[in-house]
Amino acid sequence: MDRNDADWTGNRNQCVGECYEAWKADNEGGIAEMEQVKQAALAAASPEALGNKYYGQCIACHGGRGEGGIGPMLAGQAATDIVTKLTAYRAGQERGAQSAMMYPVAKPMSDTDIDNLAAYLASL
Ligand code: HEC
Repeated sequence: MDRNDADWTGNRNQCVGECYEAWKADNEGGIAEMEQVKQAALAAASPEALGNKYYGQCIACHGGRGEGGIGPMLAGQAATDIVTKLTAYRAGQERGAQSAMMYPVAKPMSDTDIDNLAAYLASL
């Protein structure tokens, strides 16, 4: 199909050529560059900052600042303790009576995720 066909009813709002160059100038590069910048920022982020981000899924049970709720208080626990506990849950080991609530949470965690969470929680 000829895309220059005046009868074409597809997307007419294409930003190509001059339009794309202007957009790139305004946005400090194209889409690939923007993605690279994002990845670099992520790689440069501290374990604490990454842990803070991951902690979003824990708030409902452990409180916005790790003060506890459905689950125990996590704020201020030593990073090594957090690592030990999360590693145990990930392995499906029973700790307290409600460990089953932590199994699905810990299962998808990588070692790095656990280290990041520990760094964040120890900082609270
Ligand atoms: C559905 C509620 C729920 C969610 C979501 C949840 N937890 Fe838990 N968590 C619990 C409960 C309940 C316990 C106590 C389990 C037990 O009895 O062993 C617990 C225990 C823990 C412990 C051990 C605490 C201690 O001192 O013994 C850690 C560490 C922990 N959770 C971290 C996390 C992190 C990190 C997240 C988010 C990635 C998270 N939890 C998400 C409910 C939850």
